[in-house]
Amino acid sequence: MPIRAPSRPAVLVSVALFALLPGAVLTARPAAAQTTVSIACGSVGVEFNLCKTGAEAWAKKTGNQVRVVSTPKESNEILALYQQLLSSHSGDIDVLRIDIVWPGVLAQHLLDLGQAVNKNVVSQHFPAIILANTVGGHLVALPWFTDAGLLYYRKDLLQKYGRAVPATWQELTETAKLIQDGERKAGSARMWGFVFQGRAYEGLTCNALEWVDSFGGGTVVDAQGKVTVNNPKAAQALTLAASWMKTITPEGVLNYAEEEARGAFQSGSAVFMRNWPYAWALSQAADSPIKGKVGVAPLPKGGPDGKHTGALGGWQLAVNKYSKNGKAATDLAVFLTSAAEQKRAAVEASLNPTIPALYKDPEILKANPFFGELLETFTSAVARPSRVTGDRYNQVSSEFWNAVHETLSGRSPANASLAKAERTLNRLSRGGKWLPSPPSGDPAASGTAIDSK
Ligand code: GLC
Repeated sequence: MPIRAPSRPAVLVSVALFALLPGAVLTARPAAAQTTVSIACGSVGVEFNLCKTGAEAWAKKTGNQVRVVSTPKESNEILALYQQLLSSHSGDIDVLRIDIVWPGVLAQHLLDLGQAVNKNVVSQHFPAIILANTVGGHLVALPWFTDAGLLYYRKDLLQKYGRAVPATWQELTETAKLIQDGERKAGSARMWGFVFQGRAYEGLTCNALEWVDSFGGGTVVDAQGKVTVNNPKAAQALTLAASWMKTITPEGVLNYAEEEARGAFQSGSAVFMRNWPYAWALSQAADSPIKGKVGVAPLPKGGPDGKHTGALGGWQLAVNKYSKNGKAATDLAVFLTSAAEQKRAAVEASLNPTIPALYKDPEILKANPFFGELLETFTSAVARPSRVTGDRYNQVSSEFWNAVHETLSGRSPANASLAKAERTLNRLSRGGKWLPSPPSGDPAASGTAIDSK
């Protein structure tokens, strides 16, 4: 599989036009059709098809119609598109698939689902994810699937070289180099040690947060709103990551998002990969060259005193406040986030349920053994500082990912990039008073993991 280095869409307008092209209009029982509900589906891996077939099943069941809209792959590009639509109060997309870091950014444009959705439906999800979707007391989205960063490794290669799954990033660096060099000598000229998401976008924020947090270097902005991005442990983490470039990591990673990293790993050209759970199902597909050769583990610690950590990600379904079909749209969101649909997503696409009970489901565990083994990785994943920074989160994140990208590409050492990010974030925060302030006494304001003990 070729490793693609796609160019970024030049202007937002092109993104908007792309996204507004209906992927498909799925009609069920047209004669009896009542309402056409449009839904924005994701496009990474097999998610589009999964969303389409789920929406189709709902249409069939209810006698409505659905219009499935395809969105860009990158999270921050989808956000830009939504902001453009919602700022003009467009109701063109009724159901919006939103990232776990956006409730605070988009809440003002989303329906409060708290009244419309049965309390028993809400209470089956991880309470902390419900809390993350609750802004100013309003439930603005329903959890669809959760995510945490994971380490994928080649079981066969570790065995061949007599190496253990690395417990620290330092160990990973060494093992990756050893196996990469050995495989190159043995004829695999294109082998690399480690691939991840290094493009300047939201995915790099997740990767870099993992490196920094694993070294004990904090979460960019702390629970009280203080900018903590510039500290020696964070610099140590980023300096180590920069040392990977061109030694165990191809320079092209600077333009890799999730799918480019998966392409490299799945084609057999990398020993280790950082990615989300969705990559598992695809790596085990019948046509995957690495089927049966893949292991999944928690991401390494930042040294013996560090900790295993994975960034908390995940997607929710929200209803556009400007929709003319609020009731039917809410019904579709409830249907797609139900236990039955989450089970289908887990079995077919290795998407992690947001309903704890499903982590005991034998079929789900058979398809994804690591869901059980790594439960703690999922429940204690580290949150990005989106609660505390509210509607400024995207600016905070882009400042951070740009600083990290500068360091990875060798343009600026870690301490200089971090010092620059610190200055900008402090200006943005207006002295730690991020706007809007998180609701007082809100336990999720600290950006906790999904297992809110
Ligand atoms: C995944 C995560 C999401 C994150 C994105 C970054 O889709 O679920 O939370 O923002 O990756 O690329």
